[in-house]
Amino acid sequence: MNLNQRLELTWIGKSKRNKLEPRIFLEDSTLSHMNFSLKNENATTDNLIIKGDNLLSLKSLISDYSGKVKCVYIDPPYNTGSAFDEYEDGLEHSMWLSLLRERLVLIHELLSEDGSLWVSIDDNECHYLKVLIDEIFGRKNFLSTVCWQKKYAAKADSKYLSESHDFILCYAKNIDKVMINRLTKGDKQNSRYKNTDNDPRGPWKAGDTLRNEVRDYAIFPVYGPNGEEHWPSDGTSWRYTKDKFDELIKDNRVWFGKNGNARPAIKRFLSEVDTTMPVTTWWSHEDAGHNDEAKKESKALFGKGIFSTPKPERLLEKIIKIATKPGDIVLDSFAGSGTSGAVAHKLGRRWIMIELGEHCETHIVPRLKKVIDGEDQGGITKAVNWQGGGGFRYLRLAPS
Ligand SMILES: C[S@@+](CC[C@H](N)C(=O)[O-])C[C@H]1O[C@@H](n2cnc3c(N)ncnc32)[C@H](O)[C@@H]1O
Repeated sequence: MNLNQRLELTWIGKSKRNKLEPRIFLEDSTLSHMNFSLKNENATTDNLIIKGDNLLSLKSLISDYSGKVKCVYIDPPYNTGSAFDEYEDGLEHSMWLSLLRERLVLIHELLSEDGSLWVSIDDNECHYLKVLIDEIFGRKNFLSTVCWQKKYAAKADSKYLSESHDFILCYAKNIDKVMINRLTKGDKQNSRYKNTDNDPRGPWKAGDTLRNEVRDYAIFPVYGPNGEEHWPSDGTSWRYTKDKFDELIKDNRVWFGKNGNARPAIKRFLSEVDTTMPVTTWWSHEDAGHNDEAKKESKALFGKGIFSTPKPERLLEKIIKIATKPGDIVLDSFAGSGTSGAVAHKLGRRWIMIELGEHCETHIVPRLKKVIDGEDQGGITKAVNWQGGGGFRYLRLAPS
């Protein structure tokens, strides 16, 4: 496959460019918020909430932030044809593509060489968007499509198939330099390790001693503690040489079952395995939250003013942990109710959020104030032991 071959998506108005003059930002200090009384060395203060259209805002960020943003997460309107309380979600297809194209060009410029882009999207535009981002980022910089299980039950009134997932398109700014962290294994993975024989080296799990390959030098009898003889089954051989097997048995690293009669298994100790693992592309609702969870979080924060299309904090936690380290900058230019900023803040990252709608003031500002003042006990607060602290500045674009 030649990834340099250019196959372009075309649409009416694709070549039309808005002439963009960067503007300066003006701070509205009545809405900015800092809390220095809560001492927390992980809390960041140079964070921005920008009220305004994201095209001009992104353009205006270029002079200070070009090449400095580690992770861009966006959750743009999916173009479903719906009208939500806070925003319209039904543009003509080519207009939607033009809107995204212009913004993604600027986002690409803002990303650092080791940075990455994460875009939430569903079936309505996903496959067009993929081709569009390929053009801007380069096809070789495509990392993966994550499938996130946003719903855990079928929707009874679905006309055709009941949609239970969203996609997250992931791109590197530069595939050779991108930073993608492995995740620390959780309780679920660790619970598979037990200490059935009270081994002083701690919990272990049984691993296979056979290989599905016939290698003559690795076919020999192995004797269990009761003298029982074990041979590799047909078409297999041992994973180890005779000397290695003897050494492992001597070191009590081979398990013959509780009664000493079972086929030998190798003991893999938790203390000796890598405690991290690569992220997979299937994100279940148990792992990354779901839409109902996000609505509950929104209700706890805003009561009747619940936001129509929030994402769960656990979803953003996963993305931000994979794509950044503490102190890095996370940018979200379709900020909605401010989930990305709230999560980035609780994880000690710096953040920039841009939002056009009035909910920038009615939702994002109060939400982040609560996070900073240690009054938001929902979302990932308890899991990451967030205690409060830090601050943000509230900016608007100056008139041209
Ligand atoms: C799907 S919502 C994002 C929800 C968000 N992830 C959350 O967890 O709350 C998309 C947001 O993009 C905003 N938006 C749409 N067009 C925009 C534009 N041109 N500039 C800035 N924000 C825009 C909408 O107002 C809406 O709040």
